[in-house]
Amino acid sequence: MYKISVIPGDGIGKEVMEATLHVLEALDVDFDYTFADAGDEHMEKTGVALPQETVNIVKASQACLFGAAGETAADVIVKMRQELDLYVNLRPVKSYPGTKCLFDNLDFVIVRENTEGLYIGLEEETAEGATATRVITRQASERICKFAFEYAQQTGRGKVTAVHKANVLKKTDGIFRDSFYKVSKEYPGMELDDRYVDATAMFFITRPEMFDVIVTTNLFGDILSDEGAGLVGGLGLIPSANIGENQGLFEPVHGSAPRHAGKGTANPSAMILSAVLMLNYLEETVAARKLEDALVEVLKEGQVVTPDLGGSASTMEMAAEVRTKLES
Ligand code: NAI
Ligand code: MG
Repeated sequence: MYKISVIPGDGIGKEVMEATLHVLEALDVDFDYTFADAGDEHMEKTGVALPQETVNIVKASQACLFGAAGETAADVIVKMRQELDLYVNLRPVKSYPGTKCLFDNLDFVIVRENTEGLYIGLEEETAEGATATRVITRQASERICKFAFEYAQQTGRGKVTAVHKANVLKKTDGIFRDSFYKVSKEYPGMELDDRYVDATAMFFITRPEMFDVIVTTNLFGDILSDEGAGLVGGLGLIPSANIGENQGLFEPVHGSAPRHAGKGTANPSAMILSAVLMLNYLEETVAARKLEDALVEVLKEGQVVTPDLGGSASTMEMAAEVRTKLES
């Protein structure tokens, strides 16, 4: 029995969460759910977007499923990453059949450092303009590189690529690159290389099949993750994981999509694939594979899919179809 916290949040977050819990019910894995509030609606009711009680509930759980927040997303998700020290942001770039991908056989993962870099938000006005501070520590660099190698090993991947700009950012990215090679010594069987971020951005378009696991700093990882999403098309399909020492938080990359909310037509795939990431995190790899395969079958058939995928099914109809595959 796994203790799972569930934050449906706002808009389509609630709809894709309902769909995902419906498919999870069909698996041979027991979850003990605790529901918690966060987001715009909670803010309107109480004046706070992320109540301490929710943070406590997430802290007491092994993993959290998070739908989406609206305008308060930064207060909710960024704060949660800090409170729980979720230092890894994991974004798979995987092409699925029946979806608008630029490439058909992509399957790589971006591991982004989530706690430092330029995103510490230390900006200062100067007489001439402003400066921003970019913090790169050995501790955080080694920790994220270690995660990338462990993840590669556990998921049977053969290569880890560090992405940086150490030719220009000699000190900060020099530390990141050195940390990568230092940690790599503990993984002698793993193929490795390192690349500049600008070249990597180009290779995503020209030769994306060269990548397997990418590990990089915060801002580069943020940008490359969205470029990766563009390669495999459609916000309705992209899951993500935020992982720390004690918890994982799993969420679709999309937001609350207010224009679609209440219509019951949001694509549940990104949230379902986030649950697949959660199952893998919990080392329920058989269930993870089963769920992903069921979704892939529904996508491939293309019959019972939501409007963004060219179909006319509702969120819950598509979820029911995934569940039918799981139960057959
Ligand atoms: P969004 O991801 O909510 O929606 C952008 C567009 O993508 C939608 O209009 C829709 O056409 C499409 N889309 C997204 N998810 C879909 C799905 N599951 N099925 C079908 N189509 C889908 O991004 P937007 O419009 O920039 O932001 C809306 C609100 O969400 C804002 O208040 C923003 O702050 C918040 N947001 C929250 C995030 C989070 O909670 N992690 C992340 C991104 C945005
Ligand atoms: Mg982003």
